[in-house]
Amino acid sequence: MSKFHINGGVPLIGEVVTSGAKNAALPLLAATILMEGDTTLTNVPNLMDVITMVRMLKALGLNAEYRSPNIVKISNTKKVRHVAPYELVTAMRASFFVAGPLLAKTGLAKVPMPGGCSIGSRPIDIHLKGFKQLGASYSIEHGFVDLRAKKLIGSHVYLDFPSVGATENMMMAACLAEGTTLIENAAQEPEIVDLGNMLNKAGAQVSGHGTSTITIKGVTSLTGVTHNVIPDRVEAGTFMIAAAITRGNVLVKHVNTLDVEPLVVKLKAAGIKVEEVGNDALRVSALNGFQAVDIETQPFPGFPTDMQAQMMSLLTLAKGTSVIKETIFENRFMHAPELMRMGADIKLNNHIALVTGVSGLSGAEVKITDLRAGAALILAGLAAEGTTTVYGLKHLRRGYENMAQKLTALGARIDEIPETGAGR
Ligand code: UD1
Repeated sequence: MSKFHINGGVPLIGEVVTSGAKNAALPLLAATILMEGDTTLTNVPNLMDVITMVRMLKALGLNAEYRSPNIVKISNTKKVRHVAPYELVTAMRASFFVAGPLLAKTGLAKVPMPGGCSIGSRPIDIHLKGFKQLGASYSIEHGFVDLRAKKLIGSHVYLDFPSVGATENMMMAACLAEGTTLIENAAQEPEIVDLGNMLNKAGAQVSGHGTSTITIKGVTSLTGVTHNVIPDRVEAGTFMIAAAITRGNVLVKHVNTLDVEPLVVKLKAAGIKVEEVGNDALRVSALNGFQAVDIETQPFPGFPTDMQAQMMSLLTLAKGTSVIKETIFENRFMHAPELMRMGADIKLNNHIALVTGVSGLSGAEVKITDLRAGAALILAGLAAEGTTTVYGLKHLRRGYENMAQKLTALGARIDEIPETGAGR
């Protein structure tokens, strides 16, 4: 595994194009289990998590492959197998998205318990309760969840929390259920809207996706479609912060501006200039610095937990003290101690971080512990004086397509160095 050497202090200038959304592509791929025939997904980001989902589809008996860097073709013509391999589910939690479509398609789904990850324990109780309300039974044995349903029956499903993954699993399962399903307290993330739109193209009857109540009238079959994945709002947001933290000026292209609104509101409140350019681009500049601003992560349309780490990096250099409250995941401040090694002033107290802006960060050796923490450390390295060495790039490759190349094109000085020793 290699590491990055980042020589910071260069204002980023230029244009960058956002890739397709990882968190949209993953459930869209899982949904092809429901769809008979051929599906073409375009604008698919080429990154590890998506490759893992493509491998999962193959393991379940579908033909799935990248045809060019950003096009995945899936052919679902054979009998679908219902057992998901352990190594794929443990490699990526989102593999559990296959449970709903497998159950709906085959009446059975045997999927390993995904287990926790570095940012939290991440249980699946809301998914399981929802499947039960659709008429499935389940048992958990030898590390596998075994779901069964002779027939899924449309029902009233209330989610105790608007979980993104549980909403997606319920939507996919309910498409082929008999009768109408009402999902209440549903997640409203843009990726849910993309999933509902693709399912409808395939012949499903989903309405209300993007609101807290989703209605799904069951149909008997779905067919393959061609679908373009929405832009990645987290990647776009990461580049917007890269512009601001380096006091640069960047046009971030291929953005659904409404999807990044929760971030834009906070950037503007911090005194950062964000201008809409045409329908799908934002110009971000922060030539005169920025001020502290308070953040509380919430389900969409609240401030996204997936942008909390990057925002913390930004606020380490703001004027004043910011309060960051993480309400979605219980252990999502692991970037904070690494930022402190770079000179940041952060005080942690359970789910709250007090970030007092300092006049500058200094390059240091830092280690990535999870995907968005990785983005945060790269952003800090771009702004820091001197060299920052970033270890643990495998986490970054799960969710960012060509990040170093894109930043380098904006003027960043990032070198990828093969890692020889143990590193940090
Ligand atoms: C998705 C995103 C992830 C994002 C998260 C929250 C994908 C592939 N990943 O993850 O990037 O950070 O939404 O916006 O789309 N929970 C339970 N029981 C459950 C399910 C969830 O307690 O059955 C809890 C989780 O532990 C977590 C919270 O609910 O604390 C939110 O999780 P959820 O919305 O389900 O996140 P994911 O779908 O896993």
